[in-house]
Amino acid sequence: MRLFFGLELTPSVKLSIEKWREINLPPLAGPVPAANFHITLAFLGTVPVHQQEALLAQADRLTNQAFNLTIDQMGYWPRPRTLWIGPSVVPVALNNLAGNLSAIAGRLGLPGENRDYVPHISLYRKQASNPPVCLMQPDISASFEQFCLFESRPGRQGVQYHVLARWPLDSGLSIREKLARGKLD
Ligand code: 2AM
Repeated sequence: MRLFFGLELTPSVKLSIEKWREINLPPLAGPVPAANFHITLAFLGTVPVHQQEALLAQADRLTNQAFNLTIDQMGYWPRPRTLWIGPSVVPVALNNLAGNLSAIAGRLGLPGENRDYVPHISLYRKQASNPPVCLMQPDISASFEQFCLFESRPGRQGVQYHVLARWPLDSGLSIREKLARGKLD
């Protein structure tokens, strides 16, 4: 199974991104469908079945903090030919979470990524050159109170992502505050 840890975006955030893309960018090659918008935390690659239980057990032990993000800049990587948007300010809680998840991958001997972590949402994957400067940078806020293990499944219509497991992030709220905000399961 091809797996990665990531952050799920709500339908409303996905739609805001889709709308921003439509208004601000011309049609480009390799658009990522809005349903696939996500933020990778740690890429795991193909994880053999015998390692999946250990992966889940180690993620169970994490006690990372919740955080908010403002997606406010666009970036382009020529190597994977990816055009993306992401936050210009990366909260410490997000860096810690991504670091802890990569460490899990490392402990299991899964091939790690040899690059700095850059939280991003890929918008186009076959963009051969730097895109035109856009009129307006994005300004989309999202809060994250859980992280997920995703499976990436290839299909006739392209890749599909399925959430296999979810873990809560610590919002620092008391039980009373969670009740007041309707955040208790
Ligand atoms: P994504 O665009 O779907 O998030 C494996 O290399 C995957 O890790 C890529 O397909 C990309 O997935 C993600 N990725 C690439 N460069 C990254 C970086 N610098 N920081 C975080 N994730 C990255």
